[in-house]
Amino acid sequence: MKLIIINGPNLNLLGKREPEVYGNKTFEDYFSELQFKYKDVQLEYFQSNIEGELIDKIQEIGFSHDGIILNAAAYTHTSVGIGDAVKAIETPVVEVHISNTYKREEFRHVSYISAGAKGVILGFGLQSYDLAIKSFL
Ligand code: DQA
Repeated sequence: MKLIIINGPNLNLLGKREPEVYGNKTFEDYFSELQFKYKDVQLEYFQSNIEGELIDKIQEIGFSHDGIILNAAAYTHTSVGIGDAVKAIETPVVEVHISNTYKREEFRHVSYISAGAKGVILGFGLQSYDLAIKSFL
């Protein structure tokens, strides 16, 4: 099973960024825990703050991997381009969010990703990623 976690803008600052919303752990530390927990899964990780790089990555692996776990972060609420990329590929995409975006500002209630996603997991903190991996297993 070959899965990739793709994180969008500002998620490189996890651990420092708004810890009351996103927690104290860096994603690198959490990713090591996931790799340890799911030794049988080929788990990759990619992060970018740049919309086009996220689209390039989705296209690049969108016909080879078994699944994409995508937290497009702020681009979730703005990016027709990422939404179209998710629809264009064969690899199923599970959309994840750390926070419960429906409890937050109204602009976060809109997702350009969900319509093309296999499913959506949100609001469970970093555990949202773990649940997404489980959904593929
Ligand atoms: C987020 C929610 C988004 O609204 C926000 O812009 C993020 C992170 C989350 O994981 O909770 O950067 O995707």
